[in-house]
Amino acid sequence: MSRLPPPDLARVADDLETLASYRDPGAPGWTRRVFSRFDRAGREWVAGRMEQAGLALETDAAANLIGRLPGAAGLPGAIVTGSHTDTVYGGGRYDGIVGVLGAIEAIRCLRQAGAELAHDLVVVDFLGEEPNDFGLSCVGSRAIAGELDAQHLKLVGPEGHNLGEALAACGGQPAALARARWPAGLHCYVELHIEQGPVLEKARVPIGVVTGIVGIRRLVVHITGQPDHAGTTPMGRRRDALLGAAESALAVERLASGGVATVGRLEVRPGAQNVVPAEADLWAEARSAEEGWLDHFERNLTDALGAIGTGRQLGMSLSWISRKSPVPATPWVADAIAEAARSQGIEPLSLASGAGHDASFMAHLGPMGMVFVPSRSGRSHCPEEWTDIDDIGRGIAVLAETVMICDGKAGNAAPRAGGRVEEVAGLDE
Ligand code: GLV
Ligand code: MN
Ligand code: MN
Repeated sequence: MSRLPPPDLARVADDLETLASYRDPGAPGWTRRVFSRFDRAGREWVAGRMEQAGLALETDAAANLIGRLPGAAGLPGAIVTGSHTDTVYGGGRYDGIVGVLGAIEAIRCLRQAGAELAHDLVVVDFLGEEPNDFGLSCVGSRAIAGELDAQHLKLVGPEGHNLGEALAACGGQPAALARARWPAGLHCYVELHIEQGPVLEKARVPIGVVTGIVGIRRLVVHITGQPDHAGTTPMGRRRDALLGAAESALAVERLASGGVATVGRLEVRPGAQNVVPAEADLWAEARSAEEGWLDHFERNLTDALGAIGTGRQLGMSLSWISRKSPVPATPWVADAIAEAARSQGIEPLSLASGAGHDASFMAHLGPMGMVFVPSRSGRSHCPEEWTDIDDIGRGIAVLAETVMICDGKAGNAAPRAGGRVEEVAGLDE
């Protein structure tokens, strides 16, 4: 039996709707991309909600929004929760958002019950979890884990600015980034998130306990050909950068066997119907629960792109923007989540995450676990993304209860990146 009051679903629904109103009206869905004025305004509103819930607020050098509820016993290591409130272009209203607004509601429940935690409880709205215009994801949690480096800050976006400049423009301090880094030794990190896949819905189970998070490798390929007249240049004499990109995309698909890989962005220049494309930039990623598969993909794609460049007389310059290893959840935190679910009368389902999360980086600082709630038809990263408010409420109740259970645990060693993660259900379907 839970000792806590249930979440106020009307209040949570209202919060979700209000945050959804901070959206880019010129873009589809509920777009609120990191570094946009819509994201900045949304996060200012979130800061107000954190304060109203009784959290002491701070914004760090990586522009993470951090709210703290001090613990009674001043024990070392905090219990940390949270997620992100930025979205992909054309995204939905729940990815990341449920983990931030849900954490704020969990704090309200804990405070309403007069629960006195031994550990500090910290809620973070991490900056920019989704891949940004510079090709990098998890900017805020990367910085907290000490993995946002000078090279990352030099990544250049389509407007010619670099990531460091974008960070400064949204309130961060790129020159003082080291200050955003946290020491290892968290009591634990627990993130509530929508599943973004079909497993829970199919199994008709409202709560998932994450066993681990896939590894992700991201790359950009810059392809250089030659601009020529589209009417007078014979087909055999062309050095068409777009055709090189098309062949590269097919190579990514072919090499994805046994994992998943995607080309999600392509830019072609000069971009005129009557000019043979001279340059193309292609952004791609591959994911797997197996580090070895990712190594294999990386080697094979490098070879395949080299062969495409030679065959078509194109310059192919490949850079791997990020390499994130698969991360297993910490068994005692996963057990605490399962116990919390049972306290709500729910037998949870264990599953791996095919989506990336801030939790992957927070796992470098201490024990990590994630609570999943179902996604309708498994849809996500699209306007149709939907999770029923009752399921969100269950997730929040489980999160709050997990915090209570973890607060009473002695703690354990952090998982190490690169460990084994169970196969991701549904990836091969
Ligand atoms: C984050 O949403 C990701 O998995 O790309
Ligand atoms: Mn996402
Ligand atoms: Mn997310």
